[in-house]
Amino acid sequence: MSTFLIPELSAHWDEPDSFTLAGYRRSGGYEALTKALAMPPDQVIQMLKDSGLLGRGGAGFPTGVKWGFIPQGDGKPHYLVVNADESEPGACKDMPTLLANPHALIEGAIITCYAIRADKAFIYVRGEVLHVNRRLQHAVAEAYAAGYLGEHILGSDLSLDLVVHAGAGAYICGEETALLDSLEGFRGQPRLKPPFPAVAGLYACPTVVNNVESIATVPYILENGAADFARFGTEKSKGFGLFSLSGHVTTPGQYEAPLGTTLRQLLEVAGGMRAGHRLKFWTPGGSSSPLFTDEHLDVPLDYQSVAAAGSMLGTRSIQLFDDTTCAVRVVLRWCEFYQHESCGKCTPCREGSFWVVQLLEQLERGEGSEADLDKLLDICDNITGRAFCALGDSIQAPVASSIKYFRDEYIEHQRIGGCPFDPAASTLFALEPA
Ligand SMILES: Cc1cc2nc3c(=O)[nH]c(=O)nc-3n(C[C@H](O)[C@H](O)[C@H](O)COP(=O)(O)O)c2cc1C
Repeated sequence: MSTFLIPELSAHWDEPDSFTLAGYRRSGGYEALTKALAMPPDQVIQMLKDSGLLGRGGAGFPTGVKWGFIPQGDGKPHYLVVNADESEPGACKDMPTLLANPHALIEGAIITCYAIRADKAFIYVRGEVLHVNRRLQHAVAEAYAAGYLGEHILGSDLSLDLVVHAGAGAYICGEETALLDSLEGFRGQPRLKPPFPAVAGLYACPTVVNNVESIATVPYILENGAADFARFGTEKSKGFGLFSLSGHVTTPGQYEAPLGTTLRQLLEVAGGMRAGHRLKFWTPGGSSSPLFTDEHLDVPLDYQSVAAAGSMLGTRSIQLFDDTTCAVRVVLRWCEFYQHESCGKCTPCREGSFWVVQLLEQLERGEGSEADLDKLLDICDNITGRAFCALGDSIQAPVASSIKYFRDEYIEHQRIGGCPFDPAASTLFALEPA
C-alpha cells in the first residue's frame, strides 16, 4: 500500500543520530560534494536544470534556471541565502528537515555556492524555533571542523563561510526580498521587483534565494543524476517532495512522495481522517492556497494539476478539516494571521486585511447579511494583484474559496444568529479560550 512513498530526504529521520555528521556520513553524506567538486560549476547548474527541480518554497520556479541567472565574471561577491523562515499556517516540512537532517542542507548549500561561485552563504531561520537553531548551529560547527566549510574545502579552490541567522519571528520575512532587508539589519519589508535578487540581492549583489527543501534536494540530484530525479513525478513537476499532513488526520506527519500523488493515496497511508468523521475541506498548499473539498481527493498534487483545479500546490502543507469544523471560523483565524503579519508597507494589504477580518468576525457571530459576502469578495478583489507582495494575495484564497464551497454555511450563521458548530467537537479549537 505504501510503495509510492519515496523516503529520500526523510530516509534516516528515525535513526537516533540522523542529525549528526557521523549519522549523515554513514548514509553516504558528503559524497555528492566530492562529485560536484570534480565537475565544472556550469555543469552542476546544467544538471539542476536537467533534473527539472522546481523550487520547493511555494512558487515552483526552476532552481537550475535561477542559479543560471547569476552573472559570472562580474567582479562582485555572490551570495546564497537559504530561506528557512517557514511561518505560514500549515507549513511544517523545513523545520523537521533541519532538525533531523541538517547536513543535507549544508551539503546542498556548499554545492550551490560552488555552482554559482559564491563564497558566503546564509541560512535565515525562523527565530522562534530555538531547538532548530541550536541543532543547525551545531551541524555547521561539525562541518567546519571536518573541513566541509572554511578555506579550501576538501583541498579544492572553494572556500566558503556559512552563517546561520535567526530571524525575529515575522511571517513577511519569508518573502525573499523582505528576508534580504532583514538580513541586512533593516525592518523586514518587501522590495520593489525588478531588480530581482539574482541581479541585486543581498548588499545589492547577485544572490540566489532558495527554500530549505530545494537546497537539501541538491545532494540527491548530484549523487543519483538528473535523469534519476526526473523519472519521479509528472511531466512538468519532476521529482519527489515532502507532503505535510496535519489536522484531523489519524497519523499526521511528513510523507515523502512523488509530485502528482493524490490526497486519496496519502490518506490511505496516513490512516484516513480521524475515526468517525469525514473530510470536509483541505488546503493543498497552506493557508494561502484556495480550499479544496472531498471532490478533489483525486487531483494529482503537482503544480499544473492543482492550478487547473483552482488552487496552488504551494508548500504541500496539507491541512485537513473534518465535518466538525466551521469553515467560517477557520478562514477568520487565517485572516487574523494575515492581518497581524501584514507589514504595513502597502495600503491594500494593510487596510484590506483589517476590513476582511472585521467582516468575517461579524459573519462568524451571525451578525452579518448575505450582502456582506459580496462586500468581502469585493474587498479581496481590491487587494489581489494590488498589494506589494504575495502576502496580500494570500487573503483572497481562503475567503473566496470558502464562499464558493460553503456559501450556505455563511448564510446559516446569519439565519440562526451564531455559529452552528460546537467548537468543543473540533479538536483543532477545543483548547482555545472562550
Ligand atoms: C509572505 C511570504 C512568505 C514566504 N515565506 C517563505 C518561507 O518561509 N520559506 C520559503 O522558502 N519561501 C517563502 N516564500 C517564498 C519566497 O519569497 C521565495 O519565493 C522562495 O524562498 C524561493 O525559494 P525556491 O525557489 O527554492 O522555492 C514566501 C513568500 C511570501 C510572499
